[in-house]
Amino acid sequence: MAQLRAFESASEQGRDIPEIVCYEKQEDWGGQWNFSWRTGTDGNGEPVHSSMYRNLWSNGPKEALEFAEYTFDEHFGRPISSYPPRAVLWDYISGRAEHSDVKKYVRFNTAVRWVQYDEETQKFTVTVEDLVNRVTESSEFDHVVVGSGHFSFPNVPEFEGIETYTGSLQHAHDFRGAESFADKDVLLIGASYSAEDIGVQAYKMGARSVTLSYRTQAMGFDWPEGMREVPLVERFEGSTAYFSDGTSGDFDAVVLCTGYLHHYPFLPSDLALDSPNCIYPATLYRGVVSQANDKLFYLGAQDQWFTFNMFDAQAWYVRDVILGDIELPSQADQDAHMATWLARADTIANAEQEIRFQADYIRDLIEMTDYPMFDLDEVVRIFLEWKADKQANILGYRDEVYTSVMTGTMAVVHHTPWLAELDDSLERYLSEPEEDSAESLLDSEKTGAAKA
Ligand SMILES: Cc1cc2nc3c(=O)[nH]c(=O)nc-3n(C[C@H](O)[C@H](O)[C@H](O)COP(=O)(O)OP(=O)(O)OC[C@H]3O[C@@H](n4cnc5c(N)ncnc54)[C@H](O)[C@@H]3O)c2cc1C
Ligand SMILES: NC(=O)c1ccc[n+]([C@@H]2O[C@H](COP(=O)([O-])OP(=O)(O)OC[C@H]3O[C@@H](n4cnc5c(N)ncnc54)[C@H](OP(=O)(O)O)[C@@H]3O)[C@@H](O)[C@H]2O)c1
Repeated sequence: MAQLRAFESASEQGRDIPEIVCYEKQEDWGGQWNFSWRTGTDGNGEPVHSSMYRNLWSNGPKEALEFAEYTFDEHFGRPISSYPPRAVLWDYISGRAEHSDVKKYVRFNTAVRWVQYDEETQKFTVTVEDLVNRVTESSEFDHVVVGSGHFSFPNVPEFEGIETYTGSLQHAHDFRGAESFADKDVLLIGASYSAEDIGVQAYKMGARSVTLSYRTQAMGFDWPEGMREVPLVERFEGSTAYFSDGTSGDFDAVVLCTGYLHHYPFLPSDLALDSPNCIYPATLYRGVVSQANDKLFYLGAQDQWFTFNMFDAQAWYVRDVILGDIELPSQADQDAHMATWLARADTIANAEQEIRFQADYIRDLIEMTDYPMFDLDEVVRIFLEWKADKQANILGYRDEVYTSVMTGTMAVVHHTPWLAELDDSLERYLSEPEEDSAESLLDSEKTGAAKA
């Protein structure tokens, strides 16, 4: 969607833009934000893409992801809170795309099956399947931009004895809601955003206990009573998990929050990005240009602090490379440039350094394009405040508010504290409920909404 918007923006300024086709295998856009109740395969037999769950709210402040050329104020016409639920963010990204009339470029319900590069013609042949009419066809393109995301194919490690585990077992990719965890003992394996947020969702929905099992390092939040962190599971036996510190526990449900694989089944191995989830994939010049073929680009392939506005910065840069406004340097210069960034990435010792790294990376891209520059240092400051807010109150940080660096608008405190809000819909979010009901919900804050 960022790439389409980037080209449309050039077109609005009178530039000739190339013929563009965007293939989207789902019937609507929004990627992860296009929630599906389904798990496994979708109605067309395709792997379900979105890993989001019904009750997901933004886990970072919206002030850190805001588009510089389409603000929250412009979309909603009034200030909203800093941590909107999923449907509200979908509305925002979809609204920007509708606003700029880019839907005409998208062929929905069309899955990319294979991409082949021909050295002789210097073109890509892209083979797609129209999933409604079950028709396969191929077309030629000069450039390919991969925007298929990298949080869809679960990384599923095996643990000794897991085949004997008798409770409910799923990967975070298939988690859709924590209601069924009420009064249950829940084990989450992993120590990143999925573990943290599915953990607090389970708490919110009244789980009896929530245990988070880490491999490398505990998250170390000030967890409420009923939540705790333990080292990694060593083995399962029936419903019991045994941890590496010698402790054990019985669990009704296990969620593997063990991350995702970069997986591009539509690309031959020489073109497919092979990378862990990291801040600077080693084979992408300026984080986007494939070193396997400089007419192949990846958007959003890095681990993400910044999201929507970083995707924009990347898309504007890729657009200008495709339009010929930016000339790619020699291979030696590309190598040297990447080596500098990779060397810095190697020295990163903490989250703050990683956030600053990503801010500098985005600045570097924006400086080469006409994407509106924004106060990246202030966004870094917001991220650091966000981290401190989480450290202070992992259940309450989503009630904090920040100021937009794009508009100067201060977000408003949401009518209902996150912990008490059980209706995550756009309608509820934008409504103005009676004061009484908001107050009575507030009372439930201490124990978790479902318990109250
Ligand atoms: C559970 C979860 C929660 C998140 N929460 C937040 C958050 O709160 N805030 C935030 O800023 N970011 C969040 N993110 C990060 C998220 O990755 C980005 O916000 C964003 O959605 C990434 O956009 P993308 O376009 O790169 O990929 P995606 O959103 O994954 O979109 C990729 C698109 O490609 C399509 N596609 C894939 N394969 C094919 C194919 N073969 N043919 C045709 N189409 C195909 C998919 O259908 C999908 O529409 C979250 C991610 C996850 C997994
Ligand atoms: N909006 C929201 O609230 C929300 C909620 C969930 C997810 N998200 C987003 O989703 C994306 C993915 O997050 P994620 O947490 O799923 O993935 P992630 O950030 O890549 O983290 C993967 C986790 O799995 C662990 N892991 C991997 N292999 C393991 C193994 N064999 N044994 C034990 N642990 C293992 C890793 O541990 P090590 O630390 O040891 O490597 C790490 O803690 C992020 O962009 C995040 O922001 C957002």
